[in-house]
Amino acid sequence: MSGHGAAQAMTAAKSGPLMGLAEIPGDKSISHRALIFGAMAVGETQITGLLEGQDVLDTARAMRAFGAEVVQHGPGRWSVHGVGVGGFREPETVIDCGNSGTGVRLIMGCMATTAITATFTGDASLCKRPMGRVTDPLSLFGTQAYGRKGGRLPMTVVGAANPVPVRYALPMASAQVKSAVLLAGLNAPGQTVVIEKEPTRDHSERMLLGFGAELVVESAAEGNVITLTGQPELRPQSVAVPRDPSSAAFPVCAALIVEGSDIFVPGVSQNLTRNGIYLTLVEMGADITFENPREEGGEPVADLRVRFSDLKGIEVPPERAPSMIDEYPILSVVAANATGKTVMRGVKELRVKESDRIAAMARGLEACGVRVEEGEDTLIVHGRGPGGVPGGATCATHIDHRIAMAFLVAGMASLKPITVDDASPIATSFPMFEGLMTGLGATLTKG
Ligand code: S3P
Repeated sequence: MSGHGAAQAMTAAKSGPLMGLAEIPGDKSISHRALIFGAMAVGETQITGLLEGQDVLDTARAMRAFGAEVVQHGPGRWSVHGVGVGGFREPETVIDCGNSGTGVRLIMGCMATTAITATFTGDASLCKRPMGRVTDPLSLFGTQAYGRKGGRLPMTVVGAANPVPVRYALPMASAQVKSAVLLAGLNAPGQTVVIEKEPTRDHSERMLLGFGAELVVESAAEGNVITLTGQPELRPQSVAVPRDPSSAAFPVCAALIVEGSDIFVPGVSQNLTRNGIYLTLVEMGADITFENPREEGGEPVADLRVRFSDLKGIEVPPERAPSMIDEYPILSVVAANATGKTVMRGVKELRVKESDRIAAMARGLEACGVRVEEGEDTLIVHGRGPGGVPGGATCATHIDHRIAMAFLVAGMASLKPITVDDASPIATSFPMFEGLMTGLGATLTKG
């Protein structure tokens, strides 16, 4: 099991108006995939705008261990010399995916149908998370997996020597599981079919098409039916990674709750499988304008102008959950600064993220003087109105970057400062968070 470095407490205090330009780093989901698909193509893929967060760096290191040549040429500029579908070599050492569920699950998928064996581990957070959701469908290809009790890491995966294609209906809304099955299907002969009842982020499908795979998505009564034809030769690509809408949500939400704020956030993805938070904020009364809609790096994007707003609590439609699954922590903070209650249902997937995010948000908000109701699949936050969160607490982040950033944003608008016990996990997805937020006018101090 890897460590995640020394804990570093950080405190946010009531901040002056947040003003200016917020340039968000590259999308984490697309960055992982650019490296992985690049490693499975024949020849050299060029990447610009790669997120250089720890999660993605761990995936880059893993791709090298499987035989791809991965080189950094400058900030965000990388190349991957791929070995082709089925061309991975057996790693000589354990693959450490650090904090990244996306990294470990997608990499298990991409090696599962090659006759090699790999052992995976991660930090204390990742070693608690369920891997059975990926190894169960992979076993249908003929892959074997030996992990700890409950399908936990460390885990050894023995790739299928003679894989068969599979047809698999996802039992939960998970793009990670969908992507793992599609990646495994790449080296199986014939057609692999994945059925998803609720649409989840579609970056793997878009990228598979971009790299030249044969993939068809049909909308049927049972949901999206995705059919992939196995054993293609993937063609190397130039991938321009767009900015991450999940990271953008932190400065956007901060501007909405810090009085007098007015910020500009260029190039935020409006991909329908990722934009649930923005629809929700607008329903709450957020003053956000979506300017200059266009396409960047194969994704629809817009420039966002965001101003402080008087927000009201709403019922978030449960069917929207997959398109904003990573944004519930920061939405809970916004809800605490709204008038009335915000009801979030259908969110049990939050319990198996980097931390149990329902519990982490509920305990932290309570400590800050906010009334919450927690159910197995539900979180209800009773708003204190604009600037009305008492604060004055230390919140536990449980090695979870989004919990850390959510409570730091909360502290920028609360009556008394809010401390997080460990801000170091922020480096997994948004290494420049502190600099970007203080540049806008946030008061953040170490300790
Ligand atoms: C991701 C999918 C989501 C999300 C994660 C990134 C991906 O997880 O929470 O941060 O890149 O596929 P699930 O698909 O497990 O919901």
